[in-house]
Amino acid sequence: MRDTKSILLAGGAGYIGSHICVELLNRDNKYKVIVVDNFSNSNPKVLDRIKDITGKDVKFYEIDTRSNELEKVFKENKIDAVIDLAAYKAVGDSVKNPLKYYNNNLISQMNMLLLMKKYSVNNFVFSSSATVYGEVKADELPINENHPTSTTNPYGSTKLMGEQILQDCSISDPDFNCIVLRYFNPIGAHESGKIGEEAIGIPANVMPYITKVAIGELPYLNIFGNDYDTIDGTGVRDYIHVVDLAKGHVKALERLLNNRIGIEYFNLGAGKGFSVLELIHAFSRAYGKQIEYKIVDRRPGDAAIIYADPSKAKDILNWQVEYSLDDMCRDSWNWQSKNPNGYNI
Ligand code: NAD
Ligand code: WQD
Repeated sequence: MRDTKSILLAGGAGYIGSHICVELLNRDNKYKVIVVDNFSNSNPKVLDRIKDITGKDVKFYEIDTRSNELEKVFKENKIDAVIDLAAYKAVGDSVKNPLKYYNNNLISQMNMLLLMKKYSVNNFVFSSSATVYGEVKADELPINENHPTSTTNPYGSTKLMGEQILQDCSISDPDFNCIVLRYFNPIGAHESGKIGEEAIGIPANVMPYITKVAIGELPYLNIFGNDYDTIDGTGVRDYIHVVDLAKGHVKALERLLNNRIGIEYFNLGAGKGFSVLELIHAFSRAYGKQIEYKIVDRRPGDAAIIYADPSKAKDILNWQVEYSLDDMCRDSWNWQSKNPNGYNI
């Protein structure tokens, strides 16, 4: 039996994928990592940074995972498991350009699954999202994996359809072994400050927006509403450090590589919600100055409060978060201050 397992990371040059890459490479040669990415939302320089952090090389293919070229990766490597992160993720953009999202997110996933079948690769980890829980009411919290699924935008639909495809594969093929990870709100960065989220343009998500205010690229944060039924009126979310999230993938892989499970679903979240104002205050402590903000109208489609019940991941994967909100803010600021222009320094 080979000791080192080869893991194909699709979308591995991105924000979350690069952190998973580091976690896998740091596990004493247990894993060899093969990254496939088309850099549609990432920067080639991330590969040098991963090497800086780990001292190890990543085998890399610049390929669109929708294309026929993907087969080359399966021909040239004996792959033990696939972690599929390759997708577009901007909710607002998906409402304006739904076909772009259905095309990229679903065709890439299907191409991958067809090749896995052809090359008898059975282990699959899928990047899903808390967005599949649709509209959440306050009395349904915390959300566990049995919460009914639905979607409110095309991006969310691609994730829910992606889950459905996997469910059907698992019913049809007893060898197919799959873990669906539903991420809550990943923020933070690797403690080295060498990799992190490179948000291009005006960010849609709150943390990259805050860090751009901190470096002076944007004047203040617009807080979308302060009249929700929450601790201070602003929206509450379950923020999770991206390194904790990456470690959750390693646990999921360990489970898949050692067990025949069919398909399983896990929330990856901290299990605790923080408001936008609490996030701003925590970030301001890390930053050493106050982040300016203005209260504006609610953003359509936003829920008041969402947070996970992560107990299934704790019980079965032996995973739970280690980093606090202050750690997340410190590491987001460390990354942004060291890389004000992202990977272009
Ligand atoms: P990201 O955009 O930083 O990473 C995605 C990577 O996939 C990028 O490097 C991009 O270039 C690549 N990619 C996209 N389409 C591709 C294609 N057709 N072929 C090859 N490469 C392709 O995003 P992220 O935040 O790292 O998210 C990773 C995954 O996690 C996505 O599937 C996303 O939907 C999911 N997710 C993200 C969040 C979040 O808040 N960041 C939350 C829940 C789920
Ligand atoms: C967080 C809080 C906003 C921006 C989204 C996707 C979800 C998942 C994670 C991929 C909310 C408030 C935000 C701003 C603000 N992604 N906010 N001003 O909406 O919880 O989740 O990212 O799967 O699918 O929907 O995250 O960071 O956009 O918002 O006040 O400029 O910050 O109202 O309360 P969200 P977010």
